[in-house]
Amino acid sequence: MAAPQGYPLLALENPLLDIQARGDAAFLEKYGLKPNDAILAEEQHMGIYEDLLARDAKLIPGGAAQNTARGAQYMLPENSVMYIGCVGKDKYGDILKKTCEEAGVHTEYRVDENQPTGKCGVVITGHDRSMCTHLAAANEYKIEHLKSPHVWSLVEKAQFYYVGGYHLTVCVPAIEALGEEAAAKNKVFMLSLSAPFIPQFFKEQLDTVLPYTDYTFCNETEARAYAASHEWGTEDVVEIAKKLALLPKKNTQRPRVAIVTQGTEPTVVGIASADGSVEIKQFNVHEISKDAINDTNGAGDAFAGGFCAGVVSGKSLEDSIDMGQWLASKSIQELGPSFPPPKQTYSRS
Ligand SMILES: Nc1ncnc2c1ncn2[C@@H]1O[C@H](COP(=O)(O)OP(=O)(O)O)[C@@H](O)[C@H]1O
Ligand SMILES: [Mg+2]
Repeated sequence: MAAPQGYPLLALENPLLDIQARGDAAFLEKYGLKPNDAILAEEQHMGIYEDLLARDAKLIPGGAAQNTARGAQYMLPENSVMYIGCVGKDKYGDILKKTCEEAGVHTEYRVDENQPTGKCGVVITGHDRSMCTHLAAANEYKIEHLKSPHVWSLVEKAQFYYVGGYHLTVCVPAIEALGEEAAAKNKVFMLSLSAPFIPQFFKEQLDTVLPYTDYTFCNETEARAYAASHEWGTEDVVEIAKKLALLPKKNTQRPRVAIVTQGTEPTVVGIASADGSVEIKQFNVHEISKDAINDTNGAGDAFAGGFCAGVVSGKSLEDSIDMGQWLASKSIQELGPSFPPPKQTYSRS
């Protein structure tokens, strides 16, 4: 049942079941994977899921923006977040729905009749992890679902949109529809670049939707991948944050803010002004001891979740960054993209 007032924050992307196990150099080589990467599975990768399951894999509900949605809800009052994407008609789709709902996130999945729920194979070697995604049903998201009366009424009720960049490989029209809705009604539209391969290989799709963004999120590697694919001739994160902030913008009633996280290095924020100038702010990360860190996978997703919670609750940019860093630091102390139970309460650092 939808909350009568709807959900303020709506997230869209690719719901995936993570299949996570330890591997070694030979395992990576068998599938032609780098130790630290995120790719889409091709024919030669299809055996990896069975192979991982044979290694006593953990099954974890995932999908980057689904993690962000759970993170934002963790810090917000009940019924604040909903999530949209496409799953298969199978037990894994049911597991994803159940996990999301346990985290308080309302889901409106399109359920595909033919394809199974998407999977992400996660190969851990030491502190590295390589991710290989078979989108399957997640690739079957359709704008007709978004525009169906029930779902669209929830889109209209939402005031903040968060789109994971991985969805640029799936259904650009759905992202554009959210962007148009945001621009027309001066709502907030946020997007994460998600992985280096998005600016590398889905450059056109990305550039179609970037004009809608009020907040653009990326990590340092994604920032550099964007700069390289656009021949900006710089690897300097501050320079790139400036240029990302200054990209053309559809809704001129809000400034563009580009946020580049870089692990334990300061978070770099570029804030564009209407007059074409751009201000840079940097925020130190409160480091936590190495022993306390369990799993840094999904730090960026958690950061975005905390940041979105700040924006949704009307906090300042500085406070929202702090909320993002706080939630990321909590998440990396857990295994997989999750947040500490019982719920911990944020306080400004
Ligand atoms: N070792 C760490 N200690 C404390 N905070 C961290 C650590 N690693 C990451 N974070 C937090 O998570 C945020 C996102 O991490 P980052 O590695 O940039 O994202 P991604 O997961 O996309 O690579 C950082 O800005 C920081 O706030
Ligand atoms: Mg990182």
